[in-house]
Amino acid sequence: MKGRPNPLCMVGAGYVGLVTAVCLADAGVDVRLLDIDPVRLELLRQGKAPIHEPQLDELLDDVLKSGKLVLHDNAATAMQGAAVIMIAVGTPPLSDGRADLMHVRGALSEAVRHAGPETVIAIKSTVPPGTTASLRSLCKRNGRVVPLAVCPEFLAEGSAVRDFRQPPQVVIGGDDRHACERVARLFGHLDAPIRITDSTSAELIKYGVNAFLALKISFINEMAQLCELTDADVSSVADGIGTDERIGRAFLGAGLGFGGSCFPKDVRALDQAASYHGQSFHLLRAAVEINQQARSRFVAKVQRALNGKLTKRRIAVLGLAFKPGTDDVRQAASIDVIRHLEDLGAVVVATDPVAMANAKPLLPHTELIADPYACVAGADAVLVVTEWPEYVGLDWARVARLVRRRLVVDGRNCLPVDALVGKGFTYIGVGRPIRKPASTKASRTRATTAAELVAVP
Ligand code: UDX
Repeated sequence: MKGRPNPLCMVGAGYVGLVTAVCLADAGVDVRLLDIDPVRLELLRQGKAPIHEPQLDELLDDVLKSGKLVLHDNAATAMQGAAVIMIAVGTPPLSDGRADLMHVRGALSEAVRHAGPETVIAIKSTVPPGTTASLRSLCKRNGRVVPLAVCPEFLAEGSAVRDFRQPPQVVIGGDDRHACERVARLFGHLDAPIRITDSTSAELIKYGVNAFLALKISFINEMAQLCELTDADVSSVADGIGTDERIGRAFLGAGLGFGGSCFPKDVRALDQAASYHGQSFHLLRAAVEINQQARSRFVAKVQRALNGKLTKRRIAVLGLAFKPGTDDVRQAASIDVIRHLEDLGAVVVATDPVAMANAKPLLPHTELIADPYACVAGADAVLVVTEWPEYVGLDWARVARLVRRRLVVDGRNCLPVDALVGKGFTYIGVGRPIRKPASTKASRTRATTAAELVAVP
C-alpha cells in the first residue's frame, strides 16, 4: 500500500471509544474520532478528557498535537476511506435489564452507508450474545456485504490506559477471518495473544469475564458473612483461597460489593440473554442479590454499632466513587448506603477526592465537603465506602481528635486496623472480628440476621 495506511474511524468518544482511540493513535494509528456531542468535542479539542482517567489527558494532548488523532462531528468525512470503522457507542440498560442497541444500530447503518470497498466494521460496544450475527443483515450495500466483526473491550476505569497497553489478550469475533485479521492488525503492537473466534463466542467472552469476576466478589462477600458468624477473618481466608493459583487472589476483596457502569449492567444483561433462550442462570441472580445485601448489611452494622439509633446521628462517609481512581458514581455503593442512612434519620456528610460533583445531583440531602478532616469533624461514625489511598493514609490521630465518637466502619477492609485501635477507635470491618481499644473488650461481629436486613431502596 502506498502512502499512509487507511485510518481508523472510532464512532463515539465515550469512555471506551476515547481511551481506545487515544491509545491507538499513541501507538501510531491514524485515528478519526467521531462524536455528535458538541460540548464533548469542544472539551476534547482543548485537550481535556471529559472523564477522570490517569494518563489520558497527557496522551490526548500528545496525539492531538501530533495529528494522529483528529476529531470529527460529521460521519461522512470521518468514515470516508476508513480501513476500519469501530463502533463504541453506549448500550445502556433498558428497564428490564436488556441492553439498548438503538445507538449501535444507528451507528452501524451510518457506517454501512459510508463504507468503502475495503472497509471492515467492528463493534466495540458491549452487546448481548448473538447481536453481531443478527446485525449482519444490515451490512449490505449495493449488493455487496460489508464485513462485520466484534472486538469487545476489557478496560477497567482508573487503569484503562494500562489495561489497553497490557491486556491479557485481544478478542475479535466474526465470520470473515480476513476481516477479523484486519481488525487484529490495529492491536499488533501489543504484547498479547490475539484470539479470533466467532462473533457470539466473542460477545460471551466479554460478558463471561465480567460476570465471573462479579461472582467472585459475591462469593467472598458470602464467605465474609460466614466469617462473621464463625469469628474468622475474611482477609486471611481470601489470601488462603486466592493463593491456589487455579483461583487467584484478584476480585476476592470482601466489602460493599461491586458497582460501576459494567458489572451490574453486564450481569443483568447476561441473565436476560440466558432467559431469552429459556435458561435460568441462577448463579447470576444470586450474585446480584448478595451484592445488594452487602449494602443493607453494612447499614445495619452501622445502626447496631450506634445502639440501633441513627436519628440525628452525624455520619461521615469517606468515598463516593464506585471504586478508587475514578469520578464515576454509577451504581456506586455510596449512593445506596447514604440514601438508606438518611431514610433512617441520619445526618450524612460525605467526601471524595474527585467524585463529589457527579454525586451531588444524586444526593440532594447530603452535605458534601471536600476536606476529609472537615468531613469527619463531630461525626458519630466514620464510614469508609471507597478505598481511596488518601483515606487509608489519613492522619488517624487527627481524625480521633476531630470525631465525636471513635467509631470506624470500614466497608472495604482497607484501613490499618491495629493503628486505628491504638488510637482509640472501635473498628468494624466486613467479615472480620470487631476490634476495640485495649480498655474495652473485643467482641465478635454479629452477623446481620434476615429480620434486620432492611432492603436498600
Ligand atoms: C470492569 C472490568 O474489570 C473491566 O474489564 C470491564 O471492561 C469493565 O468492568 P470497572 O467497572 O472499571 O471494570 O471496575 P473493576 O475494577 O472491575 O471493579 C468493579 C467493582 O467491583 C467495583 O465497585 C469494585 O469496588 C468492586 N470490587 C472489585 C470488589 O468489591 N472487590 C474486589 O475484589 C474487586
